[in-house]
Amino acid sequence: MTKANVRARAGRSAGAEAVHSEPAAGEELARQLDQTLSELDSLEKRLLAIADAIPGRVTFSTSLGLEDQAVLHGIAATERTFDVFTLDTGRHFPETLETLDASELRYGLKVRVVFPDAADVELLVARDGIMGFRQSIEARKACCEVRKVRPLNKALAGAAGWITGLRRDQSSGRAHVPFATWDGEHQLVKLNPIADWSLEKLEAYIEEHAVPVNPLHARGFPSIGCQPCTRAIRPGEDIRAGRWWWENEDGKECGLHNRPKPKEAHA
Ligand code: ADX
Ligand code: SF4
Repeated sequence: MTKANVRARAGRSAGAEAVHSEPAAGEELARQLDQTLSELDSLEKRLLAIADAIPGRVTFSTSLGLEDQAVLHGIAATERTFDVFTLDTGRHFPETLETLDASELRYGLKVRVVFPDAADVELLVARDGIMGFRQSIEARKACCEVRKVRPLNKALAGAAGWITGLRRDQSSGRAHVPFATWDGEHQLVKLNPIADWSLEKLEAYIEEHAVPVNPLHARGFPSIGCQPCTRAIRPGEDIRAGRWWWENEDGKECGLHNRPKPKEAHA
């Protein structure tokens, strides 16, 4: 594997300013890229097309899960510059942090680790308790808001493109995930280069390239989030059944992608 030319970067670029100041241009760019990506047959080609088309910083949010490890491998293979970040909620499994370390070593890159605001977390815990997210769906969403959504907004500030590892197969709520779309909330083009991949295709890619993965996947955790909110699944269960398993299927998003109207964590 060639050593990747991937380094964490921050700040606005002139190209990003152009997209930010002209949302209509961003929408048109997203439409064109959606078409282009659908016509390309490999992850690496799709990532190169993204790097060529987006005028500014392209950032990739990784949860260190199976999908994101595949995308990270693809990014490294392009030898192009992408900003890679992860949100450390403070509640991750140790195995997830080990996967982060192993990936930096394997690909010779730095992943920007973005933390929640300490004062926000202190207020949340003072109000709801250290395990407050178990009290109600509102309290759970307030925790996700403080530990994930606000840090995400901080991490995306100034970016012109945002790559994720979302796949249509993951859940009914993700069945129509496009390859590229204009994200008006964050004022950037949101990119999902493996939107059309099946789980089988993803696993084959991981195996073919010996991509480092979280050891928890082999222990029954296909989808991994924070430790207290993730459990292993039983054979035959849905791949996201272990996430917030006490909630109804409908609302099982943390707000990173399907923005709810969250109750503020504190007044
Ligand atoms: S979640 O919304 O239920 O947590 P999921 O784990 O399926 O999301 O991941 C979907 C995508 O959201 C990932 O491909 C990644 O782009 C982003 N994501 C999720 N969790 C994180 C995280 N902790 N840090 C950075 N990105 C994340
Ligand atoms: Fe909090 Fe659980 Fe959301 Fe993590 S997944 S931010 S611990 S509620």
